[in-house]
Amino acid sequence: MNEISELRERYLVLIDSAETDSALEEVRISALGKKGEIALKMRDLGAMDIEQRKVQGPILNSLKEEIISLIKNRKNQLEDKLINQRIKSEWLDLSRSPRLSNEGSLHPVSQVTEEVIAIFSSLGFEVADGPQIESDYYNFDALNIPPEHPARQEFDTFYVHNDDGSTLNVLRTHTSPVQIRYMEHAGGPCRIIAPGRVFRSDYDQTHTPMFHQVEGLAIDRDISMANLKWVLEEFCRAFFELETVQLRFRSSHFPFTEPSAEVDIRCSWVDNQLKIGEGDDWMEILGSGMVHPKVLKAVGVDSEKYQGFAFGVGIDRIAMLKYGIPDLRSFFDSDLRWLKHFGFSRNDYPALHSGLSKF
Ligand code: DAH
Repeated sequence: MNEISELRERYLVLIDSAETDSALEEVRISALGKKGEIALKMRDLGAMDIEQRKVQGPILNSLKEEIISLIKNRKNQLEDKLINQRIKSEWLDLSRSPRLSNEGSLHPVSQVTEEVIAIFSSLGFEVADGPQIESDYYNFDALNIPPEHPARQEFDTFYVHNDDGSTLNVLRTHTSPVQIRYMEHAGGPCRIIAPGRVFRSDYDQTHTPMFHQVEGLAIDRDISMANLKWVLEEFCRAFFELETVQLRFRSSHFPFTEPSAEVDIRCSWVDNQLKIGEGDDWMEILGSGMVHPKVLKAVGVDSEKYQGFAFGVGIDRIAMLKYGIPDLRSFFDSDLRWLKHFGFSRNDYPALHSGLSKF
């Protein structure tokens, strides 16, 4: 047997008996590496005369190709072997019953609050917060609500009494006191919304003792009702996911705004189905107005220099309108079937664009 066939036989055995990738790599290097046996033999070709080289060259080349392809095949074999071993040792019991996922859902009030925050954040409004147990001053006096106002009667408002019977505080009846707290702290100009819980002594299909509002406030040098209208239109367009909306101001009265307006949105009723955005009907959706100079005075903002608008929207109310929920009381029954039906998955939750400031 000549030297080359002997070399070939030896490497066939070595390749065949390599049991790991690294053993195979060693074999490759000892044959084809820089100082490998075949590489050295190829280098010797240079010293041969041309006739010899014509014979030896192709033999060596084909040996090199053969070794490369044998190494590759062995590598594939080793991989297959490994996979087969895994298939034998690892297994999945498909007869086991799956673990049922019991993921909760997001309450429509949380979903809508986040939607409202996302929309107003994109319009440059910051989120502000205030306490749910308020003093008479913040809930009524600073907002220019006079002592004889019906809202101040025990009949409507939950008062918190001290042990000796004297009055301590109220459960806030609206989110408007956050306006006062914010302006006392930050003055003007500002743009805020304040979502949160409010409390009133009421109970029927559209009223519950606890519900949710979002307050809006924008104070600056040249703010007018036109700005208010634009902001509310943008909000309604985004919230109700409509191309266009039509709003109208209806003159009204709130002690903390002058002038005051209730805002109606265009809608229609077809076959008892409400359609928001178009039609020949109107539906009231919120209260608003220009902040009363007395309110600005109470918080030390110069009403000669600054003015602004405010509005208050019922979160539960717009949730009912947008998602077709007929009874407000069901929001707070904690009935899991209702939550599964009207709740939202985590993926629907819009990102919170701005932080939350507390006052
Ligand atoms: N606080 C009012 C309420 O609870 C809602 C409201 C109306 C808020 C007009 C405002 C406003 O800021 O300007 O019914």
